Amino acid sequence: MENVLITGGAGYIGSVLSKFLLNQGYSVTVLDNFRYNQNSLLDCCHDENFNIIRGDVIDEQIMSSSLKNQDFIIHLAALVGAPICDANKDDALSTNFESVKLLLKLRHKDQKILYPCTNSGYGIGEKGKFCTEETPLRPISFYGQTKVNSEKLILDDENSISFRLATVFGVSSRMRTDLLVNDFVKKAFKEKYLEIFEGHFQRNYIHIRDVVRVFLHGMKNFDKMKNQSYNVGLSDANLSKLELCKKIKEHISDFTFIESASGQDPDKRDYIVSNKKIENTGFKPKYSLDFGIDELIKCYTILPNQTYGNI
Ligand SMILES: NC(=O)c1ccc[n+]([C@@H]2O[C@H](COP(=O)([O-])OP(=O)(O)OC[C@H]3O[C@@H](n4cnc5c(N)ncnc54)[C@H](O)[C@@H]3O)[C@@H](O)[C@H]2O)c1
Repeated sequence: MENVLITGGAGYIGSVLSKFLLNQGYSVTVLDNFRYNQNSLLDCCHDENFNIIRGDVIDEQIMSSSLKNQDFIIHLAALVGAPICDANKDDALSTNFESVKLLLKLRHKDQKILYPCTNSGYGIGEKGKFCTEETPLRPISFYGQTKVNSEKLILDDENSISFRLATVFGVSSRMRTDLLVNDFVKKAFKEKYLEIFEGHFQRNYIHIRDVVRVFLHGMKNFDKMKNQSYNVGLSDANLSKLELCKKIKEHISDFTFIESASGQDPDKRDYIVSNKKIENTGFKPKYSLDFGIDELIKCYTILPNQTYGNI
């Protein structure tokens, strides 16, 4: 049995990933400080292959003991998103960047790292031109800068893979409604109305269950894929916010949206992305935007109309 350490494993992605890797027969250790008081991993506690450590990724002693006997490290722990990083710059720098330096200092070189970067690192793309892994990274937000700088450290240190994730959507037991698709579907379903700004700005999207599938794909094909970055998104979903709203309206017909002249995306992200490189390794996403919108409608039928996430 192989051992995986997931830092930030109680988060939005980590909560789905931990359960998925347990089901795939891995021994999973989660290191998380439970910053949001989340209880999303309660249903893992019965599993004898599940271990939990409550602690901080910048604590050298805790990191060092968490790393013992691990074959893979998936380093998810971070302050995620531009607003929370702008509001907590020191914390964001230590969690998102200093923790990576610590991890690289403490791991044995044969321990394999998988890292989630953000494709918002591409910043403002050139009109009509797909961003590939060769496109220069120009992150605009402080969040994006911490992630891109950490990716560089990790790839320079070798025996690692970086996935540049598109905006993730879908349901997790640690829900985030501060993500674009999750937010728009919530407003469309609960309030039937949405005002959008920068409606023509384009982005790429990926379902949370395809994110966990790509980590497994990286673990299984590590030697062929290592020391490189890969964009991970739906190739048929490079959509503007307006196009996304039209797609949501196909599922929620009594929803109306208008474009507003005011308001700004803190990431200023506006780009389209090529996912050919990861597809050429044999990875194909399984979950469409339509699937995710239907799933989110079920989720919001259950959840009260509040904000969940990194606020
Ligand atoms: N969700 C997305 O759209 C997206 C896109 C690209 C990249 N990513 C990356 O994926 C990773 C996970 O994102 P997420 O959406 O699950 O976010 P999240 O905020 O839900 O998860 C982060 C987790 O890290 C934990 N954490 C925070 N500070 C910590 C610390 N100092 N020590 C230990 N644990 C700490 C939190 O408690 C939380 O469980 C992040 O690295 C993020 O940058 C996410």
